[in-house]
Amino acid sequence: MTKWSPNSWRNKPIQQVPAYPDLNALAEVEARMATYPPLVFAGEARKLKKQLAAVAEGNGFLLQGGDCAESFAEHGADNIRDFFRAFLQMAVVLTFAGSQPVVKVGRIAGQFAKPRSSDTEAKGDLVLPSYRGDIINGIEFDAASRAPDPARQEMAYRQSAATLNLLRAFAQGGFANLENVHRWMLGFLSDSPQAGRYQALADRITETIDFMRAVGITGESTHALRETDFYTSHEALLLGYEEALTRVDSTSGDWYATSGHMIWIGDRTRQPDHAHVEFCRGIKNPLGLKCGPSLSPDGLIELIDLLNPENEPGRLTLIARFGADKVGDHLPKLIRAVEREGRKVVWSCDPMHGNTITAAGYKTRPFDRILKEVQSFFEVHRAEGTHPGGMHVEMTGKNVTECTGGARAIRDEELQDRYHTHCDPRLNADQALELSFLVAELLKKDRASHPASKVASA
Ligand code: TRP
Ligand code: MN
Repeated sequence: MTKWSPNSWRNKPIQQVPAYPDLNALAEVEARMATYPPLVFAGEARKLKKQLAAVAEGNGFLLQGGDCAESFAEHGADNIRDFFRAFLQMAVVLTFAGSQPVVKVGRIAGQFAKPRSSDTEAKGDLVLPSYRGDIINGIEFDAASRAPDPARQEMAYRQSAATLNLLRAFAQGGFANLENVHRWMLGFLSDSPQAGRYQALADRITETIDFMRAVGITGESTHALRETDFYTSHEALLLGYEEALTRVDSTSGDWYATSGHMIWIGDRTRQPDHAHVEFCRGIKNPLGLKCGPSLSPDGLIELIDLLNPENEPGRLTLIARFGADKVGDHLPKLIRAVEREGRKVVWSCDPMHGNTITAAGYKTRPFDRILKEVQSFFEVHRAEGTHPGGMHVEMTGKNVTECTGGARAIRDEELQDRYHTHCDPRLNADQALELSFLVAELLKKDRASHPASKVASA
């Protein structure tokens, strides 16, 4: 294999490249960004890898979620706060039900670039470049906004820095206190039509927190109750941006992507001899790999050989995204190949991307399909004796109407009310929390069928 360097991807074939009109301007921006401070620190990426290693060994659950695509227009404190509030509630429910740590990773502070099925979009006679995410061009359908503009990369960098700054403050500064999160959850339940179904679990969390308080374990006395570790992730699609933020870690001498703690390779850019795999193989961050229906068991092992040759647990998370009806056809084969070869991975379920349909003229996802994909994922893992290690969702903390269904059933006709996404339809806050209550039931069942020793060692 040829020697890796942060720019060795430039010698490989590549998919999904924007046609920048001015390559000198692009090179200038990239050179400038290479001098900017890193957004994350290598030690944090190593800590995340360690937590993911525990998940790969069967202890813990990865919760990864956030926008399909972040946007410049929606960058504000309220959006970040509401997202984080919904996300933390999901995490508490999953932690309690599974009696295992939940590794918390946002699709945030860097999730700007989108792969597209076509390079162009036509409306009437006008043909323009497709929208590829705010880091590349604008969503408005006119020639000026659709032209890729390198200055947007610096905007994305600065927005990521500000978002990350607020998230760090929330995670460490008291906002994430377990007692707060629990109170929000009770608020959600008090007006959910499905409250009855979730009440028993919520009551047990209440009792546990009351008990801890009675014996003197509170947010004031115990930092684990008032703080949480939160990490960022995004698809490493725009490799010039990633390269500019790739740095040598002075403590280990290794290369790290510093644009986020974890980055993943999309289902459309995972060709083993192409640029995205080349870039990702050389950095030491935890990596995700999206696994869709076109990935064969041999193809998967080939990719694992490239991306995790040392078989280091926590390095690689396989994010399965097949569609509710296809999980049973595809996932068992992949799991068996991984088990046969003794590869250590985290298995995570993305129940969003294989379940997109069109209704009332909108791209949407039915809640029951999303739930069904997660259920099938758990069933397959139970049958194979492997660990269903996580889930990866597109969600927002806002009360949008982008996915149909859920307890407060959103109907096709209501999609137009608050359909705000820049890309794919997201679960709203209620739907996201409801999904975690339902996944909590699966985790509990899973735990009941596992030998106690495995749980006790957590
Ligand atoms: N520190 C623990 C954890 O992150 C407990 C915790 C504190 C927590 N605040 C939280 C868990 C908010 C979930 C959500 O797991
Ligand atoms: Mn998406």
